[in-house]
Amino acid sequence: MSWELAGASLKLIMAGMEPIKDAPLAKYGYWRVGGPADLLVDVHDSAQLAAVMETDLPVTVLGNGSNLLVSDAGIRGIVVRLRGNFRAIAFRDPTAPGGLEDTLKGDLGLAVIGGGMMNAVLLKKIDQMGLGGLGCLAGVPGTIGGAIRMNAGTRLGEIGDKVAFVRVMLPNGKTTNLTPDDIDFQYRRATLPDGAIVTRIGAWVSKASHAMEQEEIKEHLDYRKNTQPLNAPSCGSTFKNPPGDTAGRLIDSAGLKGTTEGGAQISEKHANFFINTGEATAHDLYTLIKRARDTVAEQFGVQLEPEVHAVGDWPEGSWPL
Ligand code: FAD
Ligand code: EPU
Repeated sequence: MSWELAGASLKLIMAGMEPIKDAPLAKYGYWRVGGPADLLVDVHDSAQLAAVMETDLPVTVLGNGSNLLVSDAGIRGIVVRLRGNFRAIAFRDPTAPGGLEDTLKGDLGLAVIGGGMMNAVLLKKIDQMGLGGLGCLAGVPGTIGGAIRMNAGTRLGEIGDKVAFVRVMLPNGKTTNLTPDDIDFQYRRATLPDGAIVTRIGAWVSKASHAMEQEEIKEHLDYRKNTQPLNAPSCGSTFKNPPGDTAGRLIDSAGLKGTTEGGAQISEKHANFFINTGEATAHDLYTLIKRARDTVAEQFGVQLEPEVHAVGDWPEGSWPL
């Protein structure tokens, strides 16, 4: 380990963290591929996250790895995961901050959600409280921080439309609140300041939407079960849909369903889901993604854009495709 890494590691330990050296990232991502992180560390509060930001090493934030293609060479610097306080949720009356009782008198409330909160846990809590409003995340794996970065969504809507504020920590360790006007939420993409980590968000929830939303969620999850290969390791949709068409239809029409490269395969069930059949490498997935992109471009003249984020050390010129 270099002196720089050893020094950073010591600082993190002094700040109460337990960095793991050469942490195998294939263990943490949905695709189950990728090499090691120089250092992987879980942070539990803002002081710890600031300590990570204050090292001189590059920092990559890992949500739940459900949209990440980690290179076989792995990630240099520190990979950070949000835990502890970053997984909390509270409810507030936007006009009169107070306890839960006060909060939910009117119909609309503000859910204040830590950036490391898992979407599935969030949706369950909101349902248990008889609330609705975030059904757009039904079936979307991952954390709320990842959902904001990706502007995650489904046919039930997009998270960007539900946001009241987004609190981020900047690379200089300072935190700031962004309003929806400060963020350009586009289809499967949100523009945040460079290197910003989402530590907390405020999202609108309501009582009135609860019952109908639960019906919609049920129907939506059934649809997904029938159309998506949810039992195999994937990162969901590999490409974004191009305007007026869908990547799945195009890759399917190009005859690519079932195509393999090493251990990577284009799913027989949904052509925009690329799966790891067991022994895939990041390079296998990259090669298959490129082949699908090139074939669709040749046959239909449509340039597909990956939805998944490639991170880590890749051979020069690999990305953008
Ligand atoms: P990661 O994959 O860990 O990271 C994604 C990006 O966000 C990376 O650039 C990462 O650095 C960044 N990031 C993560 N956390 C933070 C943070 N706190 N602050 C700043 N940046 C951060 N997506 C949809 O939109 N709709 C779907 O219906 C959907 N279905 C899916 C189904 C399956 C089976 C799978 C595996 C994936 C699906 N996805 C879907 C893709 C994925 O779940 C979403 O993009 C999700 O929001 C990613 O969240 P994550 O926490 O796993 O982020
Ligand atoms: N289709 C095919 N062949 C296939 C797959 C799909 O012809 O192999 C056709 C379907 O018949 C349908 C159309 O393509 O007419 C759209 O398919 P689907 O309803 O499965 O939706 P999608 O556009 O592929 C989008 C999101 C999903 C989200 C679902 C449901 C994108 C890129 N994908 O999929 O999000 O879960 O709608 O709301 O926008 C993700 O982003 O990772 C993701 C999974």
